[in-house]
Amino acid sequence: MSPQPQAAVGAPLSRVDGRLKVTGQAKYAADQEPEGPEGVVHAVVVDSSVGRGRITGIDTRAAEAQPGVLKVIHHRNAPKLPYRPNPGSLNLPGERLRVFQDDQVRFHGQPVAVVVAATLETAQHAASLVSIDYDSERPATDLSEAPAAGEPRTYARGDAEAALRSAPVRLEMTYRPARNHHNAMELHATVARWDGDRLTLWDKTQWVRSPRDELAANFGIPAENIRVISPFVGGAFGNAARAWPHITIAALAARETGRPVKLVLTRKQLYFGVGYRPSYEYTVRLGSDRRGRLTAMTHDLRAETSRYETFAERGVIAPGQMLYITPNVSQTHRTVPLDVNTPTPMRGPGYTTAAFAVESAMDELAHELGIDPIELRQRNEPDNDQSNGRPFSTRRLRECYTIGAREFDWSRRNPRPRSTRDGDWLIGTGMATALYDTLRSPGQARVRLDADGTALIESATSDMGPGTYTSMTQVAADALGLAVRNVTVRLGDTTMPEAPIHGGSQTMASVGTIVQDGCDKLRRQAVELAVQDSRSPLYGVDAEGVVVRGGRMHVRDNPARGETYRQLLTRNDRAHLESMGSWTPGQSRSSMYAYGAVFAEVGVDARLGLVRVRRMLGVFDVGRIISPKLADSQALGAMVGGIGTALLEHTVTDHRDGRIVNANLADYLVPVNADVPDLKAIYVDGRDDEADPIGVKGLGEVVLVGVAPAIANAVFHATGRRVRELPITAESLL
Ligand code: MOS
Repeated sequence: MSPQPQAAVGAPLSRVDGRLKVTGQAKYAADQEPEGPEGVVHAVVVDSSVGRGRITGIDTRAAEAQPGVLKVIHHRNAPKLPYRPNPGSLNLPGERLRVFQDDQVRFHGQPVAVVVAATLETAQHAASLVSIDYDSERPATDLSEAPAAGEPRTYARGDAEAALRSAPVRLEMTYRPARNHHNAMELHATVARWDGDRLTLWDKTQWVRSPRDELAANFGIPAENIRVISPFVGGAFGNAARAWPHITIAALAARETGRPVKLVLTRKQLYFGVGYRPSYEYTVRLGSDRRGRLTAMTHDLRAETSRYETFAERGVIAPGQMLYITPNVSQTHRTVPLDVNTPTPMRGPGYTTAAFAVESAMDELAHELGIDPIELRQRNEPDNDQSNGRPFSTRRLRECYTIGAREFDWSRRNPRPRSTRDGDWLIGTGMATALYDTLRSPGQARVRLDADGTALIESATSDMGPGTYTSMTQVAADALGLAVRNVTVRLGDTTMPEAPIHGGSQTMASVGTIVQDGCDKLRRQAVELAVQDSRSPLYGVDAEGVVVRGGRMHVRDNPARGETYRQLLTRNDRAHLESMGSWTPGQSRSSMYAYGAVFAEVGVDARLGLVRVRRMLGVFDVGRIISPKLADSQALGAMVGGIGTALLEHTVTDHRDGRIVNANLADYLVPVNADVPDLKAIYVDGRDDEADPIGVKGLGEVVLVGVAPAIANAVFHATGRRVRELPITAESLL
């Protein structure tokens, strides 16, 4: 078929659901009020107040005496649940937390009971009256003190030790990025309703399939009996990909009380009720020649995990294997089980941690050798993926460096640290490279074209905030030849065709391709119908030469000859046409990553140690940009998030009892407007046709990966002080 004109794709469209969101009409999980004769009741979780031990007594009498309390559920009265194996999307070794199934306390804040009451206030008050006795011991929560367990994951090529011994230049550094919590604005919430043995959940989730499969396994019921609905997600960053324990608690509470139950975790409960980006100790040793060509790198990692599950993210080791030409590499990745809840992927999982270490180390090498940091990276830029010998599908890092250096005025930089002042402020600039692998997964989407010339697209994917409703509308509008306003996209329901997890930056590539396929099929159907219809002006025309614009099919080179979808369907008495889009990505022989170069300028108050980011630029190689406004929303938003990672965010645990002491948004610091300077993102031209038919590589995560090291490198340049621990605080600079 003729290629369709591109009108919506590439246009800076505003969010199609923006009005719904800003007027409060978009219903998030906690907004749901399922209909029923008796209405929804409220569940409040009681958290363990010790960090490790055993429950020796529970007194629920005072709680149960409150008017309006329906039930208090805990391990002594909860039914034994089947908890069948469910590998889930993460498939972690170990055993997931089973709610109310035994008396063991595995971490501070573990759910130990739930109170269900007619009102939220009653449930909250009654929860405070549940009295629990523990036999407790001191938990181990300090990564720096606890031993690793199990065999490390290892990787080696060449002989890194020998190469280090003979290297003219050797460096060794240990980096310590802090534990970070996702802290999306929307709290985690679930509404559960049983109708006989069928369960409906309204849930905050990045993958409606995830709570469905988890609850099917936990309750031992068929997945088909469970419907999960999640039309809107108020941010997630990875934390709504897994079905956390409270989801099972909500379903259990609904089953035990026979009422629909709403359970909303508090902000505080997010710090132990759901996952987080784990803290790491990341030791880098590198060897190079005098001209900065790397000869060896070793990466020795220790990461925190829980005692009941081993969370070891793959992305943390990939950059060390393939980002730079390095003949000799050795890696060990150890996990350290602690008395904590299990970590989980957070935006740019692994890559963000690795980039802080590797990109700081490269900056240290550049300084050691007196080579410009960009020039050092250019000298180590590989022609193929050295971890597997594969060619890169596309890798435009050299352009990212060149464009970034020009746009950021890098050539005017005095390379000497602590060489530039602006009043009390020491000024510095730094840069870092970013990468994130390009994932794609199979799935399906339903497309329906109605006789009135409007279309409906349905897919079970989520939109946690990147703007999937909008970008899918753009793809569909062009492939169908419709105006954007005539396309409606519906997402987030297990009754819709299955889609991959809305994570790993794969939704645009995967679901975008799937939607395009469905719309191409539908357009073809309509055109075939027209060219075979003797009453159509297109009768007898070669279908290959027909395009559709504004809902009107016409001969490509003769726009006068054609008719609208509406005319065709009405005349043929067709209420609608339907198609099913699908795509299964093939095995690729290429190494596929999205890339970027991030530049930051900071000012550091010479006397107070305060760090202010003054400007930031990201240049990204992410393939084709479908939606420029959404791309900027992702890229600039990630720079804001990266300011948090670099300078503010740090989950602090009291190691005496395992309590998280800053479990709120007053003490867990995130960037606010006053922390955010002028930000700019540039996307290098070009599509990646190996990645997927629509040429995108995914951008939601790569845009975060380089931000923290760029800022850390700028702080070094400003002050001459190398801080290897995140966040970089005033204290660390005094
Ligand atoms: Mo992302 S950490 O895959 O939501």
